[in-house]
Formats: sequence, structure tokens, C-alpha cells
Amino acid sequence: MEDYFLGVHQKEVTRLDRQHTAWQPETAQLIKQANLPNCKTILDFGCGPGFTTFEIAKHCPNAQITALDKATLYQKYLKHQIEQKQVKNVKPLYEDVLNLLNHPDKFDGAFCRWVLAFLIPDLKKVIDAIYQKLNPGGVFAAMEYLTLNNVLSSPPNKGFLANTRGWHNFYLTNDGDAQIGTYLPQLLLDAGFKLEHQTCVGGFAPVGHRLWQWWREAHEDFAPIFVEQGLMTQEEYLEANTFFKTQESNKDGFIYSPIILQIVARKI
Ligand SMILES: C[S@@+](CC[C@H](N)C(=O)[O-])C[C@H]1O[C@@H](n2cnc3c(N)ncnc32)[C@H](O)[C@@H]1O
Repeated sequence: MEDYFLGVHQKEVTRLDRQHTAWQPETAQLIKQANLPNCKTILDFGCGPGFTTFEIAKHCPNAQITALDKATLYQKYLKHQIEQKQVKNVKPLYEDVLNLLNHPDKFDGAFCRWVLAFLIPDLKKVIDAIYQKLNPGGVFAAMEYLTLNNVLSSPPNKGFLANTRGWHNFYLTNDGDAQIGTYLPQLLLDAGFKLEHQTCVGGFAPVGHRLWQWWREAHEDFAPIFVEQGLMTQEEYLEANTFFKTQESNKDGFIYSPIILQIVARKI
């Protein structure tokens, strides 16, 4: 049940932690936009080690939050953090989201960030299950990739482009899709949701910006895997390495980062 293709290990916990720091302002904005603090019960599914869960808990002190993930290591980390931080309103749930309907609880709110892109073959089933698990009037807020096709750098660089292509194909070859944001709204409508809010975040990130840093680190962590799997050549990898190093001291350089769709949907 652990087959999350970005990996289930300590290094990925650290990466997810850094990734949360990079995207924390947008995540907090979505939590508020969806009015999650008004919910009494919230499901954070595909919560990983719990960085989103604790963000939700911080903004929604009066809600009981169920933090669901199918990775044992992440659930263990989450339990440890709950004890360490003495958080009273988070309950871990070690489960595959595909089995969500086996659980009796219903929720006022559901949240996910970077989860549905890994569930492409079962997307309809998962969205239907979320719909069923929400109380009438319940809200679902999601943050998922819209596309990587826009990712560019100034100055332009072939290694940088190859790295982005590597990411795109890494998702596709593992039954994932980094363009899920383009069809998620229609799937939500088909399931019976009403769309309340949609926006896109990410984009212009000058050198040193949190999103520039995030994308550079994503390259450092995953490009060696792309080379191993034939999704990028060794030369492209080295060129991208040199590019990021050189760009770091170019105060005029920037990237246009991956774009993330933020969506708020209501069960009617
Ligand atoms: C990219 S991580 C995102 C973690 C967290 N949402 C965040 O933004 O930091 C994706 C998470 O989804 C979980 N996941 C993937 N497929 C799942 C499934 N079928 N059921 C439950 N969790 C799943 C993985 O174990 C992983 O923790």
C-alpha cells in the first residue's frame, strides 16, 4: 500500500517539510478562502507527514482533523509530531483513500494538496468518495498542479528545460499527471459539487525567492532519479546543475515556476 512514487523515506519527509515552507503562504490563503475554520470536522487526505495537517490545525483550532495517509512512515512521523506538539485536535488515520467509504465518519470539510495527481486511474472513485463523505453543505479545498508546461527560466537553458520535462514524464510514466488541474474542475462538477472559487498560484520567482529555491531543490533531489530512469541525460543533468549554480549569483535571473490550481468546491 506504500507505492507513492516520489518515495516513502526520511529524505522525502525533509523535502516535504521544505516544500511546505515554500508554499505555506498560498496554503494558508486557501484554508481561509475555503472557510475551513468554520468546519467542525475536517479530513486532510494524503496528508503525508502532516505539514498540511498542522497548518490546518493552526488555522482551525475548533475543528477535529482526521489526517489520512497510506504510508506507514508518514503516519509514524505524524503521531510523533502530535505527541511532541501536544496537539489535541488531530487524529491520524492509516488508510488508503480508496477505502475511505469503509469508514463511518463524515466531515464538514476535506482538504488535499499534491495528492490527486498520484491517483489518476482512480480519480473519479476518489472524488465520488469525498463527495459522499462530506456532510450536506460541506466544502472541499484542493491544491494540485495545473501544468509544468509554463516552466521557463531567464536566461533560458536547455538543462533547465530538460529537468522540467523529466518531472512531467516522471508523473506520466508512474500513472500520475502534473496537468490534473486542467480537468479537476469538470470532474468535481460531474460528481455534483458546485465550484465556489478557483485561482492559480506560482509563477514569477526571482533568484533566491522561496519558489526558485523550491524548484532548485526539487531538481537536486530528483534529477539523479530521472537520469537513472532515462527521463533526462547525464549531460542535461550536469547542464541544469551548472545553470542553477550560475543563476544563483545572477541578481537579474528568474524562473516562471510550476502553476498550481487552488479550487474550492461545495457539496450541494
Ligand atoms: C506529495 S505528498 C503530499 C503530502 C501532503 N499533502 C503535503 O502537501 O505535504 C503525497 C502524499 O499522498 C499520499 N498518498 C498517495 N496515494 C494515496 C492513497 N491512495 N491513499 C492515501 N494516501 C495516498 C502519499 O503517501 C503521500 O504522503
